[in-house]
Amino acid sequence: MRKHRDAKIINPRGIHVRPVSIIGTGCYLPERVVTNADLEKVVDTTNEWIVTRTGIRERRVARHDQAASDLATEAARRAMADAKVTADEIDLIIVASITPDMVFPSTACFVQHNLDAKNAFCFDIQAACSGFLYSMEIAQQFVSSGKVKTALIIGAEKLSCVLDWQDRSTCVLFGDGSGAAVLRACGAKHGILSSVLGADGSLSGLLKLPGGGSRHPTSEETLKGRLHFMQMTGREVFKHAVTRMTHAAQDALKNCNLSIEDVDCIIPHQANLRIIDAIGERLGAPREKYFINLDRYGNMSAASIPVALDEASKTGRLKKGDIVLMVAFGGGFTWGATVVEWIKG
Ligand code: ACO
Repeated sequence: MRKHRDAKIINPRGIHVRPVSIIGTGCYLPERVVTNADLEKVVDTTNEWIVTRTGIRERRVARHDQAASDLATEAARRAMADAKVTADEIDLIIVASITPDMVFPSTACFVQHNLDAKNAFCFDIQAACSGFLYSMEIAQQFVSSGKVKTALIIGAEKLSCVLDWQDRSTCVLFGDGSGAAVLRACGAKHGILSSVLGADGSLSGLLKLPGGGSRHPTSEETLKGRLHFMQMTGREVFKHAVTRMTHAAQDALKNCNLSIEDVDCIIPHQANLRIIDAIGERLGAPREKYFINLDRYGNMSAASIPVALDEASKTGRLKKGDIVLMVAFGGGFTWGATVVEWIKG
C-alpha cells in the first residue's frame, strides 16, 4: 500500500478539499513533419548537433491557416470524447499559450465558440512552458471548491510563427501542437495529490519575446530589430531549468508524503534530453521512468506536457493507480510540479 493513501488531501489552511481527477485527455499534432535534415537547408546546423545537444529529431509545423485556437479545439474535442463529456457540460475553459491567436480576445473564447461550449467561462493564462501545470492548479481550485463541476484545460502553441528562422540557436528547438485534459471531482478517493508552482521574474530577460506588447509596441524599429521573435540565452536557461525542476519535483512529492521510488512515470517538460537526464540524476530516477517524446515533437512549450500525458495514457504506459509526476520550467521564469494518481485505465 502506498504511503499517501493514509494522508488526507488538505489545503494549506487544513480544510479538507474534494479530490480532483483527470478524467480524459487528448492531443493534436499538425501533419507536417520537419526533420533536422530539412533544417540543415534553412540554417547553419547539422542533424548531429541537434540530436547530440537536444535529442530532437523532428518537429511538427502547423499550416498557415491554423491558429493556436484551431490546434486547441482539436485537442479539446479528443479530450472531451475520452472523458465522455459534452460541450454543454464544460463550465470552465483555460488555454495556456505563448502564441495566442490575438492579444485579445482570449484564445479560450475562440475555443469555446468552436466547441459551442456556451456554459463555460473562459480565459487564457501565460506561464510559458509551465502554462499547463499552472492551468491545472487553477482549474483544480475551481473544481475542488465546488464552484465548477467540469473544467477543460488546454496547452496550445503555434511556435513556428514566433521563431526566428535565421537564429539557429532557437529555431531548431521548437514545434507546434496542443494537448488537453478534462478535470472533475469524480468521487475517486485520489486524483491530483499535490502541486507546487513558482516564479522568478528577475530572470525574465533570459527567455522572452519582447516585441508587440506595451513595452515595445510594434514599429519599424521592432521589426528591424527582430523583436517579434523568441530570444533565449540557452545555456543559462538550461542551468536554472535543472535546478528548479529538481526542487519542484522534490517539494511536490514531499507534500503528498511520497518519494521518487513511489513514482511510476515522470512526464517532464520536453525541452532537452540532457536536461531530463540531469534532473533524473539529481532525483535518482532512471531514464526508463520518464515518458519522452521530444525526439518527435521538439519543445512545444505549454503543449509539451499535455501531449506527453495523452500519449502516455493512450499507449498504455499509464495504468490505473499509477503515480504520475509532471514537472515543467519555462520563461518568466516559471516552474511547477504536480503529482497525480492516475484513475483512468
Ligand atoms: N547548430 C549548430 N551549432 C549550434 C546551434 C545549432 N542549431 N545552436 C547553437 N550552436 C552553437 C553555438 O553557436 C555555440 O558555438 P560556439 O561554441 O562556437 O560559440 C555552440 O553551439 C554551443 O552553444 P550553446 O548555446 O552553449 O549550446 P548548449 O549546449 O547550451 O545547447 C540549448 C543549447 C540546446 C539551447 C540548451 O542550452 C538548452 O536546451 N537550453 C534550455 C532550453 C529550455 O529548457 N528552455 C525552457 C523552456 S522554453 C520556453 O519557456 C518557451
